[in-house]
Amino acid sequence: MNENRSWHGEFPVTRDWVYLDLANKAPLPRRVKTAWEGFLNEMHETPGPKEAWKNRLEVLRHKIATLIGARSGEIAFTKNTSEALNIIAQCIPMAPGDNLVVHAREHPNNLHTWLHLRSKGVDVRVVESPGDDVRLEDISSAIDLSTRLVAVSAVSYCTGRKLDLKTLAGLCHAQNALLIVDGVQAVGTVRLNVADLGIDAMACGSQKGLLCTHGIGFLYCREDLARDLTPVYAARSSLASHDFATTHLDFLPDARRFEHGNLNYGGAYALDAAIDLIADVGLSAIETRVKELTDHLIGLLEARGLPVITPRTWEDRAGIVVFGVDHPLRVHADLTAKKFVLSAVEGGIRAVPHFYNNESELEALAAAL
Ligand SMILES: Cc1ncc(COP(=O)(O)O)c(C=O)c1O
Repeated sequence: MNENRSWHGEFPVTRDWVYLDLANKAPLPRRVKTAWEGFLNEMHETPGPKEAWKNRLEVLRHKIATLIGARSGEIAFTKNTSEALNIIAQCIPMAPGDNLVVHAREHPNNLHTWLHLRSKGVDVRVVESPGDDVRLEDISSAIDLSTRLVAVSAVSYCTGRKLDLKTLAGLCHAQNALLIVDGVQAVGTVRLNVADLGIDAMACGSQKGLLCTHGIGFLYCREDLARDLTPVYAARSSLASHDFATTHLDFLPDARRFEHGNLNYGGAYALDAAIDLIADVGLSAIETRVKELTDHLIGLLEARGLPVITPRTWEDRAGIVVFGVDHPLRVHADLTAKKFVLSAVEGGIRAVPHFYNNESELEALAAAL
């Protein structure tokens, strides 16, 4: 996939804007919008084939599982990353004296979830690293025999650093601790296989690399772990029994026990179309293209003498490139006026090229800077 404008047709926003803000939200692809409209039309014009909608959810569950190297039963639908994190956080048994480890530079949604457990007497260890970085060695040195879990993002939303999750999983498991991952800045951009990496649970919304909308996401939970966890919520859909009158709560034997009630069927239509788009482009082609574009962008920024905060080596980053500027808010406003979509972050600007971008757009950004 060299400089390729053909995907611009799928992303109408790219006609008028240089869209470099995937870490905030994806530009909605044409076919994803059409899919959601298809659901609305069905609901509007037909009696409502609910069984078909439910079957569609099962197809989608399988596609998500395939994308991340899991089994279908290890996926529970949620409304976003935060809900998935909270579902798992609230049901992992913690005894007095147990601790969990989380980094201070995590996204607030992956920090507040865990800080909330202090109200249950959990020792929540908030680790810091020099500067804005999230360093594996600082996280690992906080783990001890009383650590029940470590919560990290696969890719940091504020520096773009990608963590070595396999090494971290090994360190966690050596102390009998679980590795819980916020995957929203990685899934759909880089290949990530939960089984190979040893991730115990992972939360992900759909509004970023999954190229969909807000309002639908998922929780991956290793099947044998899910079986041991008692969900905080219970509803008919979390139970194995189809008997309306049952008084015995036999939760489903896998991650579906974490679902409750009717789900976001329209969002499921949309996400199904988005995952098909990712499959059409190819996840490894996306990853290769993101590497090319981010390499190019880093080169352009360095040539202009701008400090690149994101690690240079591809092993340590994914699609996010953060660079320092004086007065980020002012620079952001200027760039927005010039039709660039990016985010201002502490101390700099976050640019996130994806496969629908091209080199000329990055060169135009560098010139505008
Ligand atoms: C690391 C990370 N986690 C979570 C979120 C969002 O959480 P949610 O999907 O619950 O809105 C973001 C960005 O918005 C993020 O960067």
